[in-house]
Amino acid sequence: MAKLSFIGAGRMAGAIVRGLIRSGACVPSDIKIIGGANHSAKDLAKETGVIIATSAEDLFAGADAVVVACKPQQFPMLNESYGKLAKDKLVLSVLAGTRLATLTQFFNSSRNVVRTMPNTPGAIGKGVTALCSAKTLTTSDRAIVSAICDGLGMTLEIPENMFDAVTAVSGSGPGFFFETISAYEEAAVELGFTPVQAQLLVRQTFLGSLALLQSTQETPETLRNQVTSPGGTTKAGLDALAKNQFRETIKAALLAAKNRSEELGK
Ligand SMILES: NC(=O)c1ccc[n+]([C@@H]2O[C@H](COP(=O)([O-])OP(=O)(O)OC[C@H]3O[C@@H](n4cnc5c(N)ncnc54)[C@H](OP(=O)(O)O)[C@@H]3O)[C@@H](O)[C@H]2O)c1
Repeated sequence: MAKLSFIGAGRMAGAIVRGLIRSGACVPSDIKIIGGANHSAKDLAKETGVIIATSAEDLFAGADAVVVACKPQQFPMLNESYGKLAKDKLVLSVLAGTRLATLTQFFNSSRNVVRTMPNTPGAIGKGVTALCSAKTLTTSDRAIVSAICDGLGMTLEIPENMFDAVTAVSGSGPGFFFETISAYEEAAVELGFTPVQAQLLVRQTFLGSLALLQSTQETPETLRNQVTSPGGTTKAGLDALAKNQFRETIKAALLAAKNRSEELGK
């Protein structure tokens, strides 16, 4: 398997490293990491057995691919020598909002650069990662990218001009989902349930409904219609949602997130 170097050893790097080791794609000695001023690299090495690089040269020596997993605002402060040391290597970035053009300018002698947008459920292997690459991926580089991303969950290759949209849908998506659950639990408590009862009722209802949706070929609309009798309780609730512009509200949230992603990328 490929030998990998990680620039950054925080939450996202940790999720990828754990996924790589869990899937058997890498053994810990295949992975070298470097962190910033805090102790993230030490913590990740202690937990997983990966190796802490002793210098920039050591980080890149023998690596097939480099994963860039610092914060986007830390990227301009990275050791300048990383650009040259990544010569002929595959570079994969998880940096939100950092475009391929910026990445390829820094890693200008790399063999290819991949931009990804993972999301937080990736920490338990249930995420979805969008990706695009500067050049078409070769079969062997595609295998390395899969090994890195598959531990986070599913992947979807999209053109880079869809990255602001994907940031809204799947990147910010967990935030919108948790806000929905929170609002639903709050409303259940207002109907008289204890917070513990509300939590059980709401979370199991959402979990079960998604499992039901995934177990069938039916659309969400068909399953919705199956619980909606004319003049019934679900119909009354759906009418209240429509009156309060439910679908327009969801569209407005996604559009606001996409627009913000565009602004941040400028
Ligand atoms: N967390 C998510 O769910 C998520 C989702 C999508 C995308 N992302 C992307 O993932 C990236 C990392 O996010 P995160 O949540 O993992 O952040 P994080 O936990 O703060 O990790 C950032 C890492 O970068 C290290 N670092 C800082 N300066 C460095 C330098 N000069 N050289 C090398 N390493 C340096 C930090 O080291 P020290 O802490 O030791 O200083 C830390 O290990 C971000 O670009 C973000 O956009 C994250």
